[in-house]
Amino acid sequence: TVRSVQALEILDSRGRPTLATTVTTSKGASFRAGVPSGASTGSGEAVELRDRDPARYGGAGVLTATANVNGAINDALAGQEFSDLAQLDQTLIALDGTDNKSALGANAIIGVSMAAARAFAATADLALWQYLTPAGVTPALPAPHFNVVNGGAHAPNKLDFQEFMLAPLGLPSYAEAVRAGAEVYAALKARLGKAGHATGLGDEGGFAPDLDRPEEVLETIVAAITDAGYTPGTDGVAIALDPAASEFYRDGSYHVAGQTLSSDDMIGYYASVVAQFPIWSIEDGLAEDDDDGWVRLTQTLGAKIQLVGDDNFVTNPTIIAEAVRRGVANAALIKVNQIGTVTETLEALTVCRDAGYAAMISHRSGETEDSFIADLAVGSGCGQIKSGAPARGERVAKYNRLLEIAAQNPDLPYRR
Ligand code: PGA
Ligand code: ZN
Repeated sequence: TVRSVQALEILDSRGRPTLATTVTTSKGASFRAGVPSGASTGSGEAVELRDRDPARYGGAGVLTATANVNGAINDALAGQEFSDLAQLDQTLIALDGTDNKSALGANAIIGVSMAAARAFAATADLALWQYLTPAGVTPALPAPHFNVVNGGAHAPNKLDFQEFMLAPLGLPSYAEAVRAGAEVYAALKARLGKAGHATGLGDEGGFAPDLDRPEEVLETIVAAITDAGYTPGTDGVAIALDPAASEFYRDGSYHVAGQTLSSDDMIGYYASVVAQFPIWSIEDGLAEDDDDGWVRLTQTLGAKIQLVGDDNFVTNPTIIAEAVRRGVANAALIKVNQIGTVTETLEALTVCRDAGYAAMISHRSGETEDSFIADLAVGSGCGQIKSGAPARGERVAKYNRLLEIAAQNPDLPYRR
């Protein structure tokens, strides 16, 4: 039984307001969650409610969402008993009443859902990852994807591609993968410094050198992998990209590194960098509304590498199911606040599993110290997580929670 639900306006990792949410049970135990927030958001995401009061935080305050938790949501949940998280989430969805959570705010709802998941896990005497493991699914430690070079909406440099990630797929354990990520990150910092580049950090903790050609970044990363003593490629440390192409798509063209490219130019470009560099996965290679381009991209590269839908899928089970039918991508990025409840996030993962699509659990560029997604990654058994660089507290909170789960559960398989 829920005793109360409360929220507080706190700061995220970018210094913008977000919510810290607490669910207290009738036994007096409290469970917290921190709500993440994106910068390069898909247009179909559940609505993040901002106050739009220019006098506070440039309009980005979340006092309305906070009041919705402390008022309407608390009124609906306090004193009620729920058999499981699905039932509680259904109550939140019905209370909101819209199909994009714009009435109460997805930021109000997701924090309650996450904190409630922790309460249900504790009541069942389970670790959160155990509670989040669906029947018939084998939990597993995921392969970490460390975002070590930041561009696009996450850094003030001239790089158009948003994320360059290290994927230590060839390492034998999660802990060794973390070590490889951190060692290559250090080698990359040294290499960038020697080449005279600034080694300041972007929003996700990756370096933000003033390079504009993705090939230059890729060459530097491959060299850093070798410097650190690892083999570039899926046998050692591979690379994953998130160009976040919606951000540089205007008037039907892609504007990247000073060029204006068509969808087919972009597909040809990706085919060429995949042939030159150890890239195993590309997320949002094309824009969210370039659906025909996505189908051709999938036909061209889908048998070779992983193609992940983020802005176009927005963790929405219905949208992913439709994309499967149309042959768009072969994997989905999973972000809890894109859809707004943990239950619907688990449904999106089920759609992926049933369709043979891979899934990667993801943080947002605006984060808190909450490590919920680490448990979600293990419980879903999906085998992949991205949580930024192996640096900055809000990023390593997730990687460190996974180290803890790995140490406490030596029999958990490491899936990659
Ligand atoms: P966001 O970026 O959290 O700013 O949306 C992450 C991503 O695009 O994957
Ligand atoms: Zn993305």
